[in-house]
Amino acid sequence: MSGRAIRLGISGLGRGFVLSLPAMRAHPHIELVAAFDPRPEARSAFARDFGGRAYADFAALCADREIDAIYIASPHQFHCEQSIRAVQAGKHVLVEKPMALDSAECRRMAAAASEAQVALLVGPSHGYDSQIELTRRLIDTGAYGQVRMLTMLTYTDFLYRPRRAEELDPDQGGGVVFSQASHQIDIVRRLIGSEIESVFARTLSWDPGRGGEGAYSAMLNFACGACATLVYNGHGLFDTDEFAGWISETGFQKAPRAGPSARSRLPEDGEAQLKAGRGFGGALADVDAAVQHPPHHEHFGLLIVSCDGADFRPTPVEVIELGHAGVRAHPLPSSALPRQSVFDALVSTARDGVAPVHGAEWSAGTIAACEAIRRSAAERRVINLLPHT
Ligand SMILES: NC(=O)c1ccc[n+]([C@@H]2O[C@H](COP(=O)([O-])OP(=O)(O)OC[C@H]3O[C@@H](n4cnc5c(N)ncnc54)[C@H](O)[C@@H]3O)[C@@H](O)[C@H]2O)c1
Repeated sequence: MSGRAIRLGISGLGRGFVLSLPAMRAHPHIELVAAFDPRPEARSAFARDFGGRAYADFAALCADREIDAIYIASPHQFHCEQSIRAVQAGKHVLVEKPMALDSAECRRMAAAASEAQVALLVGPSHGYDSQIELTRRLIDTGAYGQVRMLTMLTYTDFLYRPRRAEELDPDQGGGVVFSQASHQIDIVRRLIGSEIESVFARTLSWDPGRGGEGAYSAMLNFACGACATLVYNGHGLFDTDEFAGWISETGFQKAPRAGPSARSRLPEDGEAQLKAGRGFGGALADVDAAVQHPPHHEHFGLLIVSCDGADFRPTPVEVIELGHAGVRAHPLPSSALPRQSVFDALVSTARDGVAPVHGAEWSAGTIAACEAIRRSAAERRVINLLPHT
């Protein structure tokens, strides 16, 4: 990839931003030039670390003529309005997952980007992970026949990480469906490559103090005949990182759980301050640790992809192919930074006009499936997503 750099502005200097920082910093075609965050300490840290312009309101960020694109990493409820204002100011947009709170918002965002003739793509999400791309390429060779079935299990401590109140409120996009199913759905849509025909799901929570959606089990049927079973449990006891050799979601080696659960470690008071303190520039932020290059790729739990001729098991170090003739390992590139492909996609879309995989229309399909999970659970029935079904 060569050519001029994309001058990037940021909206929201919290954990999402920090996780993307190694990839943005190292990217030869991304320049971090400006940011907006309501927290003054985040703005000072941004100006200090990047010599960039730090604005106290979003309108000023949009009005900055030296910015080509804005990465919207603000809380979910701002994604729609900020994306629309940014594209109307002529900026390309990379908006964090989940794209928005519902399909109507996604449609407005896609229409605004199309009218303004700028790019709007969604990410990072684990749909971009290297092992998913490699598995997709193996499937695309045609040597393994059709994808028939996917099984995905993700057990985490999602509910007991320090949270803002709205992160646990399903009506504001909180809970595990919008925040976490959006990753699983991106992954299975990327690998199956067909439209979702119907969804049947249950959502559950057995800790009423932590919102209404702590877990789900969902079956997605695809128009091509394939199906995907998605299970997510954020109650913080079993941990599917065990199936990845104790490599964490963000690619770091971690110790097997030996002590008390995440729930018992969460403080009784001051959770919101704890969350804010961990954002960029916050008193508790260990940004030096957070911006280290992780030794492994990111991942999102146990995934098994069954095709006619092989099962594939994508992991954070390799894709294992289990065929009739034997087992073969396809290693992942060791040099790639996690999330680099997201910023590659932003550059090639914004600068070179290449259509992104995770564009606005495609990503709206993931939100439609998240909505269908919630509706199926509430109405206890199958939700059909295609008109003819
Ligand atoms: N892709 C991923 O792996 C990943 C990981 C973490 C977060 N995220 C996404 O990033 C987004 C933010 O989540 P987070 O965990 O970073 O939250 P956070 O609370 O850590 O950070 C949010 C930041 O946004 C700031 N903020 C508040 N109101 C704002 C506004 N109106 N405009 C701009 N900034 C505002 C806050 O001061 C804070 O710095 C969410 O949509 C979340 O889903 C994605």
